[in-house]
Amino acid sequence: MGDLLRLVYASRINFEPSATGDQMDPVVADILRQSRRNNEPREIGGVLCCGDGYFFQCLEGERSVVENLYDRLLRDDRHRDVTLLSKRPVRQRMFQLWSMKFMNVDRRIRRMLEVDRLEAFEPHQFSDLMVDRLLEELRDASERRRPAPLGRQRSGTGARQAGATRELMPGLMFATAAGVTAIVIGLMLAGLV
Ligand SMILES: Cc1cc2nc3c(=O)[nH]c(=O)nc-3n(C[C@H](O)[C@H](O)[C@H](O)COP(=O)(O)O)c2cc1C
Repeated sequence: MGDLLRLVYASRINFEPSATGDQMDPVVADILRQSRRNNEPREIGGVLCCGDGYFFQCLEGERSVVENLYDRLLRDDRHRDVTLLSKRPVRQRMFQLWSMKFMNVDRRIRRMLEVDRLEAFEPHQFSDLMVDRLLEELRDASERRRPAPLGRQRSGTGARQAGATRELMPGLMFATAAGVTAIVIGLMLAGLV
């Protein structure tokens, strides 16, 4: 692989949000489906964060592949005011587990904004420091949740099930022993043993 590039931009959503409650907006869901389908074979990773009518996206991958994608993104009419926040060569990916992680602006991010006296999530206003801090927050959020890498969901699920079985084993053994003891006591009381 050639030079690894990390590109971060901000944009404004160009559609009427229609999500309710915790649901993901259908337009955002389409963007994510498309991103995950395209990015994985191109070895592009990153994170897309959405809130208050804005997108904040980080793309990591081989320089020319990321630059081509950014050119396509500039012409996508699902967002506007696409503004480059940062573009730099890096030695390591921050988001290697994900072909495109998605985060809504959550309480932790709001707290970060408050510290910088920002009332809303307006990534066009972010300083370089704020961009870096938000990327770290988004990276750590993905690590805290230990997601199954995309495209390997099956083995991830299998691993989770194996873990769950291991956690249940002591309880199952105790329940079995208690059941056997109860049957023996019952038989003894009935005078059969
Ligand atoms: C906010 C936003 C983020 C996007 N992120 C990606 C992405 O990470 N990867 C990608 O392939 N397309 C992404 N897209 C879609 C591209 O702009 C473009 O529509 C798509 O790459 C075309 O893919 P297709 O040739 O498979 O239709 C994004 C679009 C928006 C509005």
